[in-house]
Amino acid sequence: MIASLAHYDPLEKVEEVGPFEHDDPGHRADPTLPNLLATATNVVELSPHCGSELQGVQLTDLSNEGLDELALFTAQRGCVVLREQKYLGIGFEEQKRIASYFGPLHKHGWMPHPQNGPVEFVIVYDSREDLRIRKSWARKSPIQFHVDQSPESQPPGMTFFCMLESPQGSGGDTIISNMHQAFMRLSPSFRKRLEGLNAIHTTANPIMREIRDNGNLAVLRRPITKSIHPVVTVHPVTGQKALFVNSSYTQSIVGWDEEESDYMLKFLFDHINRGQDFACRVRYEPGTIVLWDQRITQHSQTLDYAPGDRRHAFRLTPLANKPIPSLVEDDDGECAKDEGRVLLSLC
Ligand SMILES: [Fe+2]
Repeated sequence: MIASLAHYDPLEKVEEVGPFEHDDPGHRADPTLPNLLATATNVVELSPHCGSELQGVQLTDLSNEGLDELALFTAQRGCVVLREQKYLGIGFEEQKRIASYFGPLHKHGWMPHPQNGPVEFVIVYDSREDLRIRKSWARKSPIQFHVDQSPESQPPGMTFFCMLESPQGSGGDTIISNMHQAFMRLSPSFRKRLEGLNAIHTTANPIMREIRDNGNLAVLRRPITKSIHPVVTVHPVTGQKALFVNSSYTQSIVGWDEEESDYMLKFLFDHINRGQDFACRVRYEPGTIVLWDQRITQHSQTLDYAPGDRRHAFRLTPLANKPIPSLVEDDDGECAKDEGRVLLSLC
């Protein structure tokens, strides 16, 4: 576990992964999931719209067919929880090999990696000896729903979050929310207005916070990353539409005045924050792995445990497809039907 302590090197640089062809493993999956569920003793839904816990399944025992099915199941359920996983003890190279089955691994611009460990690992280490996480959220709500690294031109898909040590008792859960549901909860005519729009995503704000908090010791491995992505995207495997703007990285809507863009983004971020009925909350213990598909979910940390309590985890973040825009469809009468329902309810 010591090998996984956070390492901060202000002089270190990394290269971005660069463009690549993404062939999503979920396309190859048998939809009845025979390989994934071969040893499963129980499948527990964490909430109706997001999250399932698979009991009796070891990630390290899955064949390629099992991993394909895991990709599909994660895309369908948003997130999958696996507990007491041997994966945490198999060493950096094997951990990387399994995670990179889903795509080339992202290299983070400012978060720490392990001491003498690969740059593809992101270490989350909150403890009495290392208060950088506490410091970075000192003047901002720690509840921020986001897609990890959405400013990448090919943002992450399947993501591995692996807990080594969690606070005694409770605390430090992750809240994961279904962005297909977030989109579908909007009125039909409102949804059609969002389709076809694009938004700017940038790492500028977190990089500024890193400099503000750590001065000469700030870790700045890569320049600011910026991309334009559709506001509504389509999952390449399930075909589900999802809201793809987030409060950590989305800066503005392309072509709109600043006031219009700020107003719309604030509404959408509030809408996502209120979505307790399409989210789930995952509690950790050492050995828990949570996999989430960033193309259909957003997530937020909770920082509800006592300052100084130790929470120690690592993340591996395979990159995936260039976000697919949701096409602006002809009005099929859905909007009028919706308005008609409102008129009837007024009678
Ligand atoms: Fe995150």
